Amino acid sequence: MLSDLLQNNRRWSEGRRRDDPDYFGRLAALQRPEYLWIGCSDSRVPANVITGLEPGEVFVHRNIANLVHRGDLNLLSVLEFAVDILEVRHVIVCGHHGCGGVRAAMEPHRHGVIDHWLQPIRDIADNAEAELRHLATGEARNDRLCELSVRSQVTNLARTPILRDAWARGADLRLHGWVYGLSDGLLHDLHCDVDSLLAADARRPVA
Ligand code: CO
Repeated sequence: MLSDLLQNNRRWSEGRRRDDPDYFGRLAALQRPEYLWIGCSDSRVPANVITGLEPGEVFVHRNIANLVHRGDLNLLSVLEFAVDILEVRHVIVCGHHGCGGVRAAMEPHRHGVIDHWLQPIRDIADNAEAELRHLATGEARNDRLCELSVRSQVTNLARTPILRDAWARGADLRLHGWVYGLSDGLLHDLHCDVDSLLAADARRPVA
């Protein structure tokens, strides 16, 4: 029931104020998150819940299949605000196994506008065709493709003028690629960090 949501909210707000009367006063005055999260819109991968972070601790951008399109004004605006104004220290691209967006990208039939959105995933799959071919099941191929896509999105981020300018002025800022397992609720580091112009220059875009 929709009314449950409003009721839940009142209960939550009251509980917070009971524990800490100044809780909302402090939050309203300032947000200083250390993290920017770029994740999938999938309802099963809520950034705050799976990382145990509180309101005010993570700035969040989500879209279908956690993609970093170079001309996406929505994502670029979020990135610029997070990097230049909030001065986050970490940008995390988080994909997840069993991603419906990745699966849809590899299906032969049309879905709609989403087929345009998901084109980078098909490009990554074409590039990694030799590796993906050896995996036994469609599920394993899609899960590996999720991971390859996260790495590719980290590279796309590293090549944005926003991040290059931040590193050029000496900002302490690190990009990370993670993948989340729907079946066990665990996050895994894909070890594709980028933390400098030098590291960014070493990365080549996949697609
Ligand atoms: Co997804």
